[in-house]
Amino acid sequence: MADIIDGKAFAEGLRARVATVAADFEAKAGRKAGLAVVLVGEDPASQVYVRNKGKQTLACGMASFEHKLPADTSEADLLALVDRLNADPAVDGILVQLPLPAHMNEQKVIATINPDKDVDGFHVVNVGRLATGLPGYVPCTPLGCVMLLKDKLGSLSGLDAVVIGRSNIVGKPMAQLLIAESCTVTVAHSRTKDLPAAVRRADIVVAAVGRPEMVKGDWLKPGATVIDVGINRVPAAEEGKTRLVGDVDFASASEVAGAITPVPGGVGPMTIAVLLRNTIVAAHRAAD
Ligand code: GUN
Repeated sequence: MADIIDGKAFAEGLRARVATVAADFEAKAGRKAGLAVVLVGEDPASQVYVRNKGKQTLACGMASFEHKLPADTSEADLLALVDRLNADPAVDGILVQLPLPAHMNEQKVIATINPDKDVDGFHVVNVGRLATGLPGYVPCTPLGCVMLLKDKLGSLSGLDAVVIGRSNIVGKPMAQLLIAESCTVTVAHSRTKDLPAAVRRADIVVAAVGRPEMVKGDWLKPGATVIDVGINRVPAAEEGKTRLVGDVDFASASEVAGAITPVPGGVGPMTIAVLLRNTIVAAHRAAD
C-alpha cells in the first residue's frame, strides 16, 4: 500500500511558519502584512474559498481586506478597485477570485494587477518570470504540489514526470516548476493519444484534469508518486448525498503507487497556505 501524503498536516506547518514570519514583519514594519481578496458575484464554491482565505489570513496574523461586488458590476468598476488596491500601501497581495462573470475579460483584469502584488502568479509578467527562472510569484496550487513532492522525495532531479492537464492555473505552471527541478516533463491533455502509456513511464504523476477518478491504478508505474489536484463532487452511494473524489481512482492507485495524496486532505489545503506564504514574501519585498 502507498504512503499517504498528508497535505493537511504539511499546510498546517506551513501556515505556522508564515505566522512566525508575519509576526516578525509586523514588529519590523509597524504594520501587518495585508491580503486583499476580490469576489464578484455569488458563485457558492468561490464564496466558500473566499471565506476560508479571510479566516486563515487573520489566523496567520495578517490583515484581510475582502471586497464583495455584485455579479452585475461593470468591468470598469472592477478595474478601478484593482487600481485602488495597487496604490494602497496596506495591501501587499491582491487576489481576484476566478472565474469572473462572463461579461468581464479575465486577462484584462489580471493584467491590471501590479505584478509585485500578484500573489496568485497569474499576471503575464509572473508567468514569464517563472518560464525564465527569474524571481516572481508562482501559482499557489502547483507550488504547493512541488513542496509536497520535495518533502516526500527530496531531489526530483532526473525523474520522469507527467502532468495531466494544461490549464494556466495548474498544468502549465506545474510543468515549468518540474522543469526547474530538472525533471523530464510530459504534459498530457484531452487530445493525448495514449494517456495510460504516458502515465506508465512516469515516476511522478500530477493529475489536474477535472475528470473524476480517471487515472487508474493499472496505468501507474509501481512505486510512482501521485499528486491528485482534482476536486470533483460526485453522487454518493446514499441517495441524494454527494462525496468528493480526485482525478485519480484512489482505491486502485493506492495499491500500485509508492505515495499518493488523498482527496480531500491532500493538495486542497496547500493552496491557501501557499497564498499566505506568497503574501508574506510580497510584504517583505515591498518593505525592502
Ligand atoms: N479559482 C480557483 N482557484 C483559484 C486560485 O488559485 N486563484 C484565484 N484567483 N481564483 C481561483
